[in-house]
Amino acid sequence: ERVKCLPKPLISWYRKEKRNLPWRKEATAYHVWVSEIMLQQTRVEAVKPFYARFLAAFPEIEDLARAPEEKLLKLWEGLGYYNRVRNMQKAARQIVELYGGEMPADYDKILSLTGIGSYTAGAISSIAFGIPKPAVDGNVLRVLTRILADGEDILKASVKKRMEELLETVIPADAASDFNQGLIELGAIVCVPNGEPKCNKCPAKDFCLAHQQGTETAFPVKKKA
Ligand code: ADE
Repeated sequence: ERVKCLPKPLISWYRKEKRNLPWRKEATAYHVWVSEIMLQQTRVEAVKPFYARFLAAFPEIEDLARAPEEKLLKLWEGLGYYNRVRNMQKAARQIVELYGGEMPADYDKILSLTGIGSYTAGAISSIAFGIPKPAVDGNVLRVLTRILADGEDILKASVKKRMEELLETVIPADAASDFNQGLIELGAIVCVPNGEPKCNKCPAKDFCLAHQQGTETAFPVKKKA
């Protein structure tokens, strides 16, 4: 189906248009992890200074594992959702205990760490290690439901599952990082939530069903409980 058309134009577009972001400079598993956790509830521009300070204080996973809680919370002050950083420290300790302080290059092992769900595990696996696993968050759901003009309620866990299964069949084995980062970037700068998506700049415009129908802003469907 339509999503099979996506990898080539998306990857070319991403390689040309990607923003210079701090976590793209040296995309180690630890750097990708820290950035993705911070970006879960916080905008890119707001994350940048927190990201720099956090890595200056804890350059390696082992530094995070042994940090005193008050220092941890101090560095997170302003980001909110403090369980995120508490869970990161738990996971850092698991990585020290189980894997000698190095993030394992294994999707299922990463997924089993505290606070890491399928999105973050997919992002770390693909971006740091080139493992072809999907990374589906709300932004990626928006891009995919528009390309497919899929009107099922994205608040249902089954939709994310279905999109993950679909992506598994199309992620190029030799370009998983650029493919997943391309989807994330497309959702961030082109296929944006409200007002006007910038469809004229979109690498998927020729096969996006919502664009063909002129119904871009009808997707994703989110039914209120
Ligand atoms: N939002 C979530 N993850 C991101 C990433 N890796 N780059 C830019 N924006 C993001």
